[in-house]
Amino acid sequence: MKIIGLSGSIVGSKTKTAMKAIEQLFNDNHPDIEFELIDLADYEIIFADGRHYQDYEGDTQSVVTKIMDADALVIGTPIFQASIPATLKNIFDLLPEEALKDKVVSMVVTAGSPAHFMVPEIQLKPILSYLKAQILQRYLFITDKHFYRGELMDDAIYFRMQNLVDDTILLAQTYKEMRDKQDAQFDF
Ligand SMILES: Cc1cc2nc3c(=O)[nH]c(=O)nc-3n(C[C@H](O)[C@H](O)[C@H](O)COP(=O)(O)O)c2cc1C
Repeated sequence: MKIIGLSGSIVGSKTKTAMKAIEQLFNDNHPDIEFELIDLADYEIIFADGRHYQDYEGDTQSVVTKIMDADALVIGTPIFQASIPATLKNIFDLLPEEALKDKVVSMVVTAGSPAHFMVPEIQLKPILSYLKAQILQRYLFITDKHFYRGELMDDAIYFRMQNLVDDTILLAQTYKEMRDKQDAQFDF
């Protein structure tokens, strides 16, 4: 099973730090899962211009294809101006409407303020629903106070991270089995 971690911002370090901890958990506890972390800061992605997703080139083509081929996604995003960063929205804009059909998507969110805890609920989940994802409803919300000198410093966050990774895998396996069964029905 292939799972993509997507660090959705090209500035800052906290989302990347959180997503690297997620990557570590996949590698240490679930070596059977093919996990790849895509940090958008490492890619030159062009703005979505309405063409078919397979007609993009270079980094844009590569990132979109990896997302389309994945069984599940763990999306890491900071909160910017009470929403998600434009870099992450652009990735969604590049995708076709049913890109995430029956694929599990979980969310790791970093923010300056706990006051914006509901932002993923009203800004991110509707986009994922539109793309037909199966959303892991409980997201991980990490604020600046959980970091010290660039490191995540809260055991409770690590515990919840483990749960998020385990739950993502469990749900992704269920939906993968379902998709495989459906594919087999049409496989004459
Ligand atoms: C341009 C910008 C806008 C931000 N807007 C918000 C906001 O609306 N609400 C909030 O809680 N934090 C906001 N923050 C704080 C970031 O969400 C927070 O520091 C996050 O952990 C940064 O993650 P990063 O280091 O991966 O960029 C903002 C930060 C920046 C740079």
